[in-house]
Amino acid sequence: MKILILGGTGMLGPWVVKALKNKHQLLLTDINEPPKKYQGDFLKLSVDDINGVINAAEGMDCIINLSVLRHDRKLAFDVSTKGNYSMMNAAKIHNIKRVINTGPHFQMLGQSYEEWDFNLNPEMPPQPGTRLYAISKFLGQEIAERYADYFGINLITLLYYNMRHHYDLTTPNEEKAVLHNDMVPFTTSWIDCGEAVRCAVEIDKSKLQSNSETFFVSPMPPHNKFNSSKTFDILGWRPKYSLENLWTKKIKKSNNHVEDSY
Ligand SMILES: NC(=O)c1ccc[n+]([C@@H]2O[C@H](COP(=O)([O-])OP(=O)(O)OC[C@H]3O[C@@H](n4cnc5c(N)ncnc54)[C@H](O)[C@@H]3O)[C@@H](O)[C@H]2O)c1
Repeated sequence: MKILILGGTGMLGPWVVKALKNKHQLLLTDINEPPKKYQGDFLKLSVDDINGVINAAEGMDCIINLSVLRHDRKLAFDVSTKGNYSMMNAAKIHNIKRVINTGPHFQMLGQSYEEWDFNLNPEMPPQPGTRLYAISKFLGQEIAERYADYFGINLITLLYYNMRHHYDLTTPNEEKAVLHNDMVPFTTSWIDCGEAVRCAVEIDKSKLQSNSETFFVSPMPPHNKFNSSKTFDILGWRPKYSLENLWTKKIKKSNNHVEDSY
């Protein structure tokens, strides 16, 4: 497949390139240059440049959006909201039927879900709240979903939370681990994050129930707070690294542990 990657020189980009480069023809784009060791095609492109994105998408079979800008009020909307508008317009104009969008899990399950401790899943009614990162991504998602429904585009949204190197998962630092101040239970190794994108690119359309399907990308935590079974069952994603060692490691007692307060 010919694949356009938007925002591809950030943290996740290299892992997506690694997962796809042997089987697909990639055009990497970003406002920032890739590292010198990157050997494929690259185009400097801002996702809010609608015509630029439309031009770059010509002849593509799939678009992947990895772009994000988290902290500046205007730029966050330019990138995470308007960027999706550019992407979906480009898909519509060039009749591109597969689009992969990415974001944090809280663009759907925001602050009002934080107290929930069981079976949070991507089918729940979205409540992104008003945090800039979440709301700018959520609005971009809404735009993408409307385009997908109206123009018959397969939109696959991959939601992540915390991405780590696999050695942080396999050999967690017990010295630094502090009770209640440790890793979130929705953590995925970089390599598995990239692999999820490959699964989304390559999944047969007949396995998707609607034009717009959303997936959590996380190994299953033992208490099932986050439920990513849909990702296993439908996308066929099989993470190489589980969270087992995080749960079984020894941890120091936190200074603010409730027993210490009395
Ligand atoms: N890193 C994480 O732990 C994490 C967690 C949850 C979700 N995500 C999601 O994963 C995806 C990739 O995130 P990341 O960790 O690689 O983020 P990142 O900040 O490392 O990379 C984002 C990329 O977007 C690019 N960008 C910014 N403005 C742009 C513009 N106007 N046009 C084009 N590109 C632009 C940046 O240059 C950067 O290369 C995002 O959708 C993010 O929301 C990441």
